[in-house]
Amino acid sequence: MIVLGVESSCDETGLALYDTERGLLSHALYSQVAMHEEYGGVVPELASRDHIRRAIPLLEQSLTGAGKQLADIDAIAYTQGPGLAGALLVGSSIACSLGMALDKPVLGVHHLEGHLLSPLLASQPPAFPFIALLVSGGHTQLMRVDGVGQYTLLGETLDDAAGEAFDKSAKLLGLGYPGGPAISRLAEFGDPTAYKLPRPMMHTKDFNFSFSGLKTAVLTVVKNHEEKVIANICEQDKADIARGFVDAIVEVLTAKCVSALKHTGLKRLVIAGGVGANAQLRASLNAAAAKKKFKVYYPELEFCTDNGAMIAFAGAMRLMINPDAAQKDYAFNVRPRWPLDELKVV
Ligand code: KG4
Ligand code: ZN
Repeated sequence: MIVLGVESSCDETGLALYDTERGLLSHALYSQVAMHEEYGGVVPELASRDHIRRAIPLLEQSLTGAGKQLADIDAIAYTQGPGLAGALLVGSSIACSLGMALDKPVLGVHHLEGHLLSPLLASQPPAFPFIALLVSGGHTQLMRVDGVGQYTLLGETLDDAAGEAFDKSAKLLGLGYPGGPAISRLAEFGDPTAYKLPRPMMHTKDFNFSFSGLKTAVLTVVKNHEEKVIANICEQDKADIARGFVDAIVEVLTAKCVSALKHTGLKRLVIAGGVGANAQLRASLNAAAAKKKFKVYYPELEFCTDNGAMIAFAGAMRLMINPDAAQKDYAFNVRPRWPLDELKVV
């Protein structure tokens, strides 16, 4: 079975073809980052319009890459939510129109399920059950994953998401959007002893997170700086603050993963979502894995941030378990707010 995946929940347009027998055939991606950069964040209306412009060329690119034609597609999976309503509607309308024209069934996929399952696209995928840390721009959740559609939420952020904390702190340091990769690169040159920032909720006995205090701590350091004006902070000071921030967030994320593994007795940890691309987080988790004897799995770097491959894959997994999961009703039915625990078991 060949499944076309369509992702358009935020600022990346992704299309991909996944074959349940041969694996991922192709994927094509366009990131709108450069367009949103000058606004310091995603502008929803611009995002929707750009998804419209990119989708068909990306579809053609993925078909060509796979050596397939439209008629070879058996089902279409699209991101139904959560995400920006207008952006989701573009993907949903493209998937439903194609489905109707080709007389093929369509299936709405939960964006976070796509992220959660993305490490399974790797050549050596983890077996179920595992603990998943989902760290994206909009979410920070620790989950126990027993199978496709079998997710138990262990804990989540009470305020900002990890990616949001990266982006907002980067902005306070005058770095561009998205800030995660930029603050991470800068932190490499920072002195780890210069600024010791708080580790919020690190020692609470639950699996919840809170990052808004950490962002405020960055703000306070920036404001208290003798130069008072961010533009005057020298590059080394910026790097030191970046290092203080990255060390704090990475330490909290690592500690909570380790305690979730201990609590459940599981030995496999999967990292998903954009922040999973972070080099310092990976180094810290790898060190913890070696010390505590667990195994950590990451999606391929290109599948950490939003992409169509994870949506095609999640759709294909659901269809393999339940072929009736895809239908021919073709209603543009998006769910901008869609808690993962409301996701139907397959
Ligand atoms: O999963 P994703 O592409 O989109 C959402 O579904 O939110 O995640 C985007 C987030 C952004 O906040 C971005 O700054 C962050 O992931 N990110 C990173 C890195 N690469 C992306 N954060 C830290 N270090 C990185 N290398
Ligand atoms: Zn995402």
